[in-house]
Amino acid sequence: MALTGLFLILFLVIHLIGNLQLLAGDGGEAFNRYSYFMANNGLIQLVSKLNFTFIVLHVIYSIWLARTNAAARPIPYGGKAKSVQATWNSRNMGILGTLILLFLIVHLKSFWFEFKFGTGLPMIEAGTYDGLNFAILDAYTVVATAYSTLPYMLIYVVGMLVLSFHLYHGFQSAFQTLGLGFSSYKKLIEVIGVVYAIIVPLLFAIIPVAMYLQQA
Ligand code: HEM
Repeated sequence: MALTGLFLILFLVIHLIGNLQLLAGDGGEAFNRYSYFMANNGLIQLVSKLNFTFIVLHVIYSIWLARTNAAARPIPYGGKAKSVQATWNSRNMGILGTLILLFLIVHLKSFWFEFKFGTGLPMIEAGTYDGLNFAILDAYTVVATAYSTLPYMLIYVVGMLVLSFHLYHGFQSAFQTLGLGFSSYKKLIEVIGVVYAIIVPLLFAIIPVAMYLQQA
């Protein structure tokens, strides 16, 4: 659970850096170039498969953990919880994780699935080679069109709020599981965790809000 979570934490930073190019103010040139590279680089495609594997594993582990915890519940139903930490873990992380999964389904359908299997997508002329005209996907326009609608933009804002809470707890929990939570690094890990859980979702949320306002 901790290792898959840490991989996804790292993925989010890289994903964020790539997506911030949407705000470069260059009509999408940098983002389209980045998007083309991501879609056509063999190594990136391999990492992408690893990424999806880790997401699935993370979900499967979380379900297994929740069931194991529930079975080992040390208090009778209706009784008073002994551990506030355990209550937070089993209740909120499950709910937050489920909401993030719902967000991911909407997100992947709109972009990842659309980029890979969509038809009639906007294209841009990218030059000629051997007398043939080349066009690449105008990924920027696909994203900008999605964020031009208020409900879709709001899904991201709420999604990032949920992600923030999930990361706030998940970051520290992952390090604790790996045995670092009680070391002399405890305080440092806590601080990095809080900063990460606020900054990363906030920057993610700024993208759809800014793109919506640009088009409003
Ligand atoms: C403003 C925020 C975001 C934007 C603009 C954005 C944009 C995109 C785009 C354009 C793709 C398709 C990339 C491609 O197939 O070439 C993508 C894929 C993906 N996004 Fe996001 N994303 C955002 C936030 C998030 C968040 C918060 C998560 C996770 C909680 C996430 C998880 C993913 C995953 C797992 C993929 C598939 C990546 C892969 O192929 O390995 N995204 N995103």
